Amino acid sequence: KEEGLELSPEENAALVSKEGDFWADLTEEQKERIILVAVATADGDDTEQSLDELEELGQTAGAVTVAKVIQNREKVHAGTYVGKGKIEEIKNLAISLDADAVVCDDELSPAQYHNLQDALEIKVIDRTVMILDIFSKRASTSEGKLQVELAQLRYRASHLVGGRSELSRLGGGIGTRGPGEQKLEMDRRLIKERITLVKRELEQVKRTRELTRKKRQENPTPVVAIVGYTNAGKSTLLNYLTGAGVLSEDQLFATLDPTTRKLVREDGEEMLFTDTVGFIRKLPHHLIRAFRSTLEEAKYADIILHVVDCSNPDLDMQMYTVYETLRKLEIGDKQIVTAFNKIDRLEGEQVLKDLRADRTVRISARSGEGVEEMLDALSELLKAGQVLIDKIIPYTDGSQINLLRKYGQVLEESYENDGTKVKAYVPREYAYLFQSADGEDDQ
Ligand code: GTP
Repeated sequence: KEEGLELSPEENAALVSKEGDFWADLTEEQKERIILVAVATADGDDTEQSLDELEELGQTAGAVTVAKVIQNREKVHAGTYVGKGKIEEIKNLAISLDADAVVCDDELSPAQYHNLQDALEIKVIDRTVMILDIFSKRASTSEGKLQVELAQLRYRASHLVGGRSELSRLGGGIGTRGPGEQKLEMDRRLIKERITLVKRELEQVKRTRELTRKKRQENPTPVVAIVGYTNAGKSTLLNYLTGAGVLSEDQLFATLDPTTRKLVREDGEEMLFTDTVGFIRKLPHHLIRAFRSTLEEAKYADIILHVVDCSNPDLDMQMYTVYETLRKLEIGDKQIVTAFNKIDRLEGEQVLKDLRADRTVRISARSGEGVEEMLDALSELLKAGQVLIDKIIPYTDGSQINLLRKYGQVLEESYENDGTKVKAYVPREYAYLFQSADGEDDQ
């Protein structure tokens, strides 16, 4: 114990149970040493920020960045990502810094990947592999795990040339974790079979999820989907709100699976909050596809809560990335409350604007400052968007009841002599479907 070599049984148990922290405790020498490489194609672009983010991603993956190399080129080299001279420079750097791998900031084509690896004689990975690697370590539910495995398999299938010897030469570390070592040796056919299987399992999980969602729709509690750039503070906020015990760490992608928690306010008002995966620039397209269904939670939400880290100098780009992703997922038309988070880190009165939001608030998810105002804003918008329908629908008009169930939140339903008596909240845009022909409200 004195030498610090032996662990007491308690310490050992703590180490085993906190697998995640084990990696954080690795000493700098044991961590994988990586060199980051990017190509800047235009003056004043954001290559440097992108590399800083890649460094953070590397840290999350358990690696330490030993050098960053940026090449200015008109465009990325089609065959080797960077030019010949740069390759020599990186090769020498790798030797002198004792690096284990080179990480490129963009997704490499199969040809670039193989050529670069041959030229550098060292493991080469790209941003996509790095993100997939982090996702595979962090996914916690069965759906998250399956989605990551599918994305990894698809990436491997598209980058697999040669086979066994080539893959086993890569050794361990980033990009080799995930579906398991022996699976690395699968050939194309096996990967294909596995993809089919995973897809089938995912379909099953999706059906279950749809059922849960349907059940939730029968319940009039409105759903708030929390979205935001990775590390914005979504989990921290959810924790503050509900004491949910959702993973929240100063690491990227602490949240891989949506977690829904119920909030009951003092006046009895209820809201469901659902957390989504953090957005990030250059999110690999494999992952956009893979996480579409996770993000579908946001699609079925009544309102979007957009959490922004206002202490981050890059907040405009981060907000833009979030809106672009929402647009791609066809969720752009929902009502949005933007919560500028981490105001405790701001000095002085800074103007914070989000023209795309219906309302903006300033909060600190850590201290709870501004959170009540945020809930008020959500609650006001939720109520403003709804019309209360209270009427008797004749039994001859079964389709109206179905429409009401589809678009509205049914509060009460009872069977009377002359029809079904219903009380329901309906989004304003559908209210006309249920109002009387003479234009009067059915109150
Ligand atoms: P992903 O899971 O990567 O999408 O991240 P997230 O958006 O869920 O972020 P998370 O809640 O994990 O917070 C990221 C870091 O920001 C953590 O270290 C939090 O402690 C910190 N943080 C969150 N809210 C605040 C805040 O109001 N003030 C300060 N100072 N730090 C905060």
